[in-house]
Amino acid sequence: MKKVRTAILISGGGSNMAALIAAAKAPDYPAEVVLVVSSSPEAGGIAKAEAAEVPAFAFDHRQYDREGLERAVDAELEKAGVELVCLAGWMRLLSPYLIGRWRNRMINIHPSILPAYKGLHTHRRAIEAGEQEHGCTVHFVRQEMDEGPIIAQARVPVLPGDTPEILAARVLVEEHKLYPHALALVASGQVRVEGEKIVKG
Ligand code: GAR
Repeated sequence: MKKVRTAILISGGGSNMAALIAAAKAPDYPAEVVLVVSSSPEAGGIAKAEAAEVPAFAFDHRQYDREGLERAVDAELEKAGVELVCLAGWMRLLSPYLIGRWRNRMINIHPSILPAYKGLHTHRRAIEAGEQEHGCTVHFVRQEMDEGPIIAQARVPVLPGDTPEILAARVLVEEHKLYPHALALVASGQVRVEGEKIVKG
């Protein structure tokens, strides 16, 4: 089986990255992780990628303007023959340059049931709003932050006494299952975008 050559872009601990790499090791998984790119040399995910024997490339975003960083990242993606990009805690806003280059070939995970709670501090905001449910979403990337056709979502209950940290940990358990599932759907062609609609099968 030909696996889709996939890169993961991270800025931090890379726990979703690690879940994707682990899933992609299965012989029948439709994607292989050929490259990890970090926006910061301090990202904890770099060591995890190296431990999993995936080439990792760290940029220091402070040394670039936004498009300069994206051009440098894009050059690495091209060099590695990447076909699909997963944002996994990539915390730099993207410009039309990279988003246009990877349109319908770039997906993101976000810790909320989109379209609710775009942006930061989603867990705290969900608790403060008295939500009964929270969760996570994998979607194709569009220019507007945390927008784009939705591939898959998972839900968790918000429980009495939850702090943002406790709720984030509950959501993260689901993220680690949802993202490998969603990447498999896209890499296998079971989910694709036509216009702005998701088409299945
Ligand atoms: C994850 O919870 C991910 O959903 C979130 O950052 C965390 C990264 O953790 N992403 C966003 O908020 C993007 N808007 P990880 O580095 O351990 O995967």
